[in-house]
Amino acid sequence: MKINRNFLDLKESYLFATVGSKFTAYQKAHPEKKVIKLSIGDVTRPLAPCVIQAMHRAVEDLAHAETFKGYGPDATCYGYESLIRSIEGSYARKGVTLTDREIFISDGAKSDLSNILDLFSAENVVLVPDPVYPVYVDTNIMAGRKIVYADATEENGFLPMPDEGVSADIIYICSPNNPTGAAYDRVGLKAWVDYANRHGAVILYDAAYEYFICDPALPRSIYEIEGAKTCAIEFCSYSKTAGFTGVRCGYTIVPAELEREGVPLAKLWARRQSTKFNGVSYVTQMGAAAVFTEDGEREVRQNLEYYRSNARRIASTLDELGIYYTGGKNSPYIWMKCPGGRTSWEFFDWLLEEANVVGTPGSGFGKNGEGFFRLTAFGSAENTAEACRRLKKLLG
Ligand code: MLT
Repeated sequence: MKINRNFLDLKESYLFATVGSKFTAYQKAHPEKKVIKLSIGDVTRPLAPCVIQAMHRAVEDLAHAETFKGYGPDATCYGYESLIRSIEGSYARKGVTLTDREIFISDGAKSDLSNILDLFSAENVVLVPDPVYPVYVDTNIMAGRKIVYADATEENGFLPMPDEGVSADIIYICSPNNPTGAAYDRVGLKAWVDYANRHGAVILYDAAYEYFICDPALPRSIYEIEGAKTCAIEFCSYSKTAGFTGVRCGYTIVPAELEREGVPLAKLWARRQSTKFNGVSYVTQMGAAAVFTEDGEREVRQNLEYYRSNARRIASTLDELGIYYTGGKNSPYIWMKCPGGRTSWEFFDWLLEEANVVGTPGSGFGKNGEGFFRLTAFGSAENTAEACRRLKKLLG
C-alpha cells in the first residue's frame, strides 16, 4: 500500500485550522480575556425569517407519507425544482439565461471547487493568483498538479491580468477576491475569458462573494461576459449570501456549451456527482429556495447591510490610524498592511497578545500576502466595534 505522497508537500495544517487552534490555545491559557475573532469568514447573523419558515414547512413535509422525500431528484446532483427555478430567476435578473441541466446543487463552493478537479487530468497546469483562498492551491498539491502563480500586488490593484507568455489549462479567479476584496470589472474579466478561449483553458470562477458587490458597474457573474459559457465554470454559495456556513448549500454552473476534447464538462460533472455525492438535504434545499424570492432577497440584504456596516467601521478605523487597506466595499474582507513593517504572523501574535483580536495572516494566502493581514466583517456589530476600539488604543 502506498499513500498519496502529494499530501506530504502540503503545509502542516489548513490555514484556518492553524489560526483556529492558535485562538483556542490562547483563550484556554487566558480564560479571563475576551478574545474577538475576526479571522475565518464565518457569519454571525441568524438565518432570514423566510428561510426558517421554508425549512419548518419542509420538516413538516418529511413528517407525512404523502409529502415525505428520500433521495433527491435526478441522480441527486440537480436539486429540487423550486430551488433550480429560483437560481434560474436570480441569473435572469443578471441577464444570464441558464437551463436546468447546467445548474448543480452542492453543499458549498469549497467542496465543488475541490471536487471539480476530478474532471481534469493531473497533467494540466494550474494558474492561481497569489494571494488567494488556500483551497485552490492545497487541492491541486494533493492532486500533484503543477501550479503557476499570477502576482496580485498593490501595483496591479490585486487584480492580475493574463500573460500571453504563460500557458495554463486551469485558471482560478475569485471575484470579489478572498482575501484582498478586489473585484474585476467587465474589461478585466473579458481579458481572462478571451485568454481562456484562445488557450482552450477552463476558468474556475469563485463567485462566493458576489452578493457583496455594491458597484452596479461590476459583473456579478462571469456569464455576464461574452464568451464565458465556452470556458468558465461558476461556483456560488449560500454561505456568505444567506448565512448558510453551518447549513451548507451552494450551486455550480457548468454551461452546456463548455466542452473539452469534444466532451461536455456538464456530462462529466453529472457523472461524477451522481456517483460520489448524495445531494443536499430536502430541508436545506427548501430553505435555500426561499433566498431568491422577493421576501428572501429583502431579508438577506438586511443581513448583508449589517456586515457592510461592520466593514465601514473597520475601514474608518484604519483610515483614522492612517493604515493602508483594500477591500471592505464590494467585499466582506478588509486587507490591511501590517503596521510597523511587521510580518503577517508577527502582527497576528502581537494583535492577539496586546489587543486580544484574531485575524488571518496575509502570508497564509500566498507569498504576496506577506506583510498583510485580513479582517472579516462577519462578526457581531458589538465585537467589531470593540475590536476597533482596541485597534485604536494599540495603534493610535
Ligand atoms: C474564509 O474565511 O476565507 C472563508 O470563510 C473560508 C471558507 O469559506 O471556506
